[in-house]
Amino acid sequence: MDKISLLISEYDIKKRVTEIAQKISMDYEGEKITIVSVLKGAFVFTADLIRSINNDTDINFIRAKSYIDTKSSGDVNISDEFRLDVKGKTILIVEDIIDTGKTLYDLKEYFFSAGCKDVKIAVFLDKPSRRTADVSPDYCCFQIEDKFVVGYGLDYNEKYRQLPYLGILTPGGN
Ligand code: IMP
Ligand code: MG
Repeated sequence: MDKISLLISEYDIKKRVTEIAQKISMDYEGEKITIVSVLKGAFVFTADLIRSINNDTDINFIRAKSYIDTKSSGDVNISDEFRLDVKGKTILIVEDIIDTGKTLYDLKEYFFSAGCKDVKIAVFLDKPSRRTADVSPDYCCFQIEDKFVVGYGLDYNEKYRQLPYLGILTPGGN
């Protein structure tokens, strides 16, 4: 059986996400925010974040995948199923976690090569000690140690995304 121990409570998540949403609202005052949420992990964070943003928003989705079990595969697979039109736009990428940074680095390159004017990044979590790619978030709710975490949209082989809190996972045997 997997073991999950509480790292950040539902209450603390709510408080911090609201704070970051208010900061984003202030920074983008009077502007429409073009959000690109990275599926699947960021859907819970995105849903909470946008409900505390006061600006007009345009919500979009892209898919990126790199993790298998609790290890980064190193290869980032981007699939733009909705064929986003980002030409000349400033976008705000919303992601669950920045770990090695490869996913966000590749996403940034992808959007710039698609003609994006500027790319900003909002993450729920940051594991700074794991970074290998040259990328950093503009907005971050929590920095955490190098532990594999689940809940609040983050999964372990598709499990545990629905947990309302963030927990540290210790995978069990079969
Ligand atoms: P990066 O490309 O190494 O920065 O990895 C980012 C992606 O890895 C995130 O979008 C997550 O899907 C996944 N990831 C990294 N750390 C964790 C974790 O602790 N739990 C669940 N997923 C993680
Ligand atoms: Mg992800």
